[in-house]
Amino acid sequence: PTIYLKDYQPFGFVVRDVSLRFVLHPTATRVHSRITFAPNPDATAPRDFFLDGEDLKLIEARIDGTPVTPEVTAEGLRCDVPEGEFVWETEVEIAPDENTALEGLYMSNGMYSTQCEAQGFRKITYYPDRPDVMSVFTVRIESDLPVLLSNGNKVATGEGFAEWHDPWPKPAYLFALVAGELLNLPGSFTTRSGKEVELNVWVRKGDEDKCDFAMEALKKSMKWDEDVYGREYDLDIFNIVAVDDFNMGAMENKGLNIFNSSAVLASPETATDGNFERIEAIIAHEYFHNWTGNRITCRDWFQLCLKEGLTVFRDSQFTADMRSAPVKRIGDALDLRGRQFREDGGPLAHPVRPESFKEINNFYTATVYEKGAEVIGMLKRLVGDEAYAKALDLYFDRHDGQACTIEDWLKVFEDATGRDLSQFKLWYSQAGTPKVTMSEDWDGATYTVTLKQQVPPTPGQPEKAPQVIPFALGLLDPSGKEVQPTTLLELTEAEQSFTFKGLKNRPIPSPLRGFSAPVILDRETTNEERAFLLAHDTDPFARWEAGRQLAKSALIAMIDGGQAPDAAYLDALRQLVKDETLDPAFRALTMALPSEDDLAQTFADMGRTPDPQAIWDGREAMRGAVAEVLKDDLTLLYAANTVTEPFRPDAEQGGKRSFANVILSLMTRQDNGDAARAQYAAADNMTQQLGALSALLANDLGSLELGAFADQWQGERLVMDKWFAIQVSHARPDQAAQVASDLTERPDFTMKNPNRFRAVMGALAMNQAGFHHASGAGYKLLADWLIKLDPLNPQTTARMCSAFQTWRRYDADRQGMIREELERIAALPGLSRDTSEMVGRILEA
Ligand code: ARG
Ligand code: ZN
Repeated sequence: PTIYLKDYQPFGFVVRDVSLRFVLHPTATRVHSRITFAPNPDATAPRDFFLDGEDLKLIEARIDGTPVTPEVTAEGLRCDVPEGEFVWETEVEIAPDENTALEGLYMSNGMYSTQCEAQGFRKITYYPDRPDVMSVFTVRIESDLPVLLSNGNKVATGEGFAEWHDPWPKPAYLFALVAGELLNLPGSFTTRSGKEVELNVWVRKGDEDKCDFAMEALKKSMKWDEDVYGREYDLDIFNIVAVDDFNMGAMENKGLNIFNSSAVLASPETATDGNFERIEAIIAHEYFHNWTGNRITCRDWFQLCLKEGLTVFRDSQFTADMRSAPVKRIGDALDLRGRQFREDGGPLAHPVRPESFKEINNFYTATVYEKGAEVIGMLKRLVGDEAYAKALDLYFDRHDGQACTIEDWLKVFEDATGRDLSQFKLWYSQAGTPKVTMSEDWDGATYTVTLKQQVPPTPGQPEKAPQVIPFALGLLDPSGKEVQPTTLLELTEAEQSFTFKGLKNRPIPSPLRGFSAPVILDRETTNEERAFLLAHDTDPFARWEAGRQLAKSALIAMIDGGQAPDAAYLDALRQLVKDETLDPAFRALTMALPSEDDLAQTFADMGRTPDPQAIWDGREAMRGAVAEVLKDDLTLLYAANTVTEPFRPDAEQGGKRSFANVILSLMTRQDNGDAARAQYAAADNMTQQLGALSALLANDLGSLELGAFADQWQGERLVMDKWFAIQVSHARPDQAAQVASDLTERPDFTMKNPNRFRAVMGALAMNQAGFHHASGAGYKLLADWLIKLDPLNPQTTARMCSAFQTWRRYDADRQGMIREELERIAALPGLSRDTSEMVGRILEA
């Protein structure tokens, strides 16, 4: 059934307290619950005592000590209950070892772990599994395993048991339990009011040397949230656990964050700079949820962006502070365009706050998370930093302990700033990426900028109203001097003009500085102007963007018209890479070519059918041309950016390594792999080792190193994931499906581990020319595996269906093949709700 936001009704009961007792067993865990219910005075509908419950074996149920016989269905149970307050008790049996969906209580490599968001708690016991029902939990775990963890503070422990009490009322989705033979890296943090908090990072034996970075990241996050948002931690203990089998990145369970091991474990030898940065960001993200998510939670799952958008925004501020703000902003823009714009422009488009769903797990999307964060960034830009801080203080003050809505959130900003946000609210309800068309006029004295906006139709939303778009603009004089520093134009109408007076010459505009709004900018311009901005702009994002546009137009001309690589682009690039005043990370970003998918979308936007093979060939040719034009500079650039000091996972060293790796990949085109082999042999860290291997594979070299890599790292799961993925990413278009298929034959390939599955199938979907190869082999292989995975793990299957979301771009043959695969999946008997909703949406629109 479809669930609608408009149908929201409070639950008929409140939960006064919850007491759970777990007797752990891999195939027969007993869960005893004792819950005090009372009528909810705020309930609007007749009280119906329905508790959610799935895959539970009910052993017994009692009300006030007397056995009762509820009516049990596949979704839960219903029972007659007394008028007033009563005590509800059940005993159920579950089988964690058979739980391959990784939702609820499951086992992973011998340890017990949970994932309850969004609706996994109902697989643990009967309960009103909805975020607006909040309660205090006491948990007793009985098991012979040495480490037994749950939320809150530890209140008792003894031979074969532990008891935990979480004083902060919480919804069931924040419940967590972990049990196993775990080792901990201990630490401590003293809050600004002087409370000492015990910290632990728990891992399986063998991983204990990969926890330090996560621990440091946690301490930095705790300090940052105090300094920047005034938020302190609120329990005596904070535990982080790494688990190998996990559907997503991590989970913010109160006081007991559970992480995909890929989002915690790191050492210089096994993790790349990119891994370190991601780990730091995810640790921060989950920690920040303690206030934005846990202390203030969501009324219902339609409000998911209330916690996720805000928490992503907060973690991006944190990363900008810890590392390089411009590099982070460019990375976010790349990610948003690569994932969210794609979603917003296709069959899966939905508003930041969706209004209906069949399976909520399908809405943990780039739109809810990343566009949700952009919306908050725009709000901050519009009201200013001070007003933003004031509004956030009011939010924490007013709503602590509550389950809230986007209306509550916006009201706080209205009250704190006096602004009317009714039009701004459209960002939450209208799907689709607004397109802003910019034109200019110069009459010799006045410069006029005209902005037009258009929000495209999306599934279920044919008509759109104009939104509030904060458009940051700067102006440069033809000499290269900035004559108008960044100014914020507020576009609120379909079309609006803004004038600038007192300029001597017609200025060169620097539009959408800092990527001030998640929009597509459409403006007629020339390559001369782009090259000018690339050389002179003061705004790092706009400068990078000019370079990107230049690269794109050069690539399109090559792919489309068979033209030679644009000399102006190559020249500009040559200037830039040698500019010692520029951050190496920025130079690396500027050298990266637009992705295959980006180019495919560009063709689609021009009303053309993209040819994946031609796009692949064009990028190859451009890389060759770049290597050729830089060939006399490469050795020097490489030497100048090779880090020789001991490894530090910080932005400065990481930036150099990423730039050196880009240079190395160009050198490999010229030297038959000598430099890359030397780097591979000398590398004492994964960034250099993998960078070298990748440079070799990209040039059809490196089979020896590939074998050596597997021998060296066969015992390291996360490193082997990289080994699986890199082969698929670098496979030629006509071989990608075969390479992926061969990898699935290996004994160390398993679809039960989402990381390993994604390493192969995710990499295949990302290898655009390979996935979309005219043979259709890529489509078929992915569909075959999604069909195998769905009965075991619906969530991961459904997420991977999005590989097909861009299918309407392609020619009739490819569309026909994709349709066939999608229909083959859709027709499966017993297909999960998750996958069926995704495939249905992709096919329908
Ligand atoms: N709340 C988690 C985070 O963003 C995501 C967990 C979602 N899990 C899921 N199965 N839907 O940090
Ligand atoms: Zn989150």
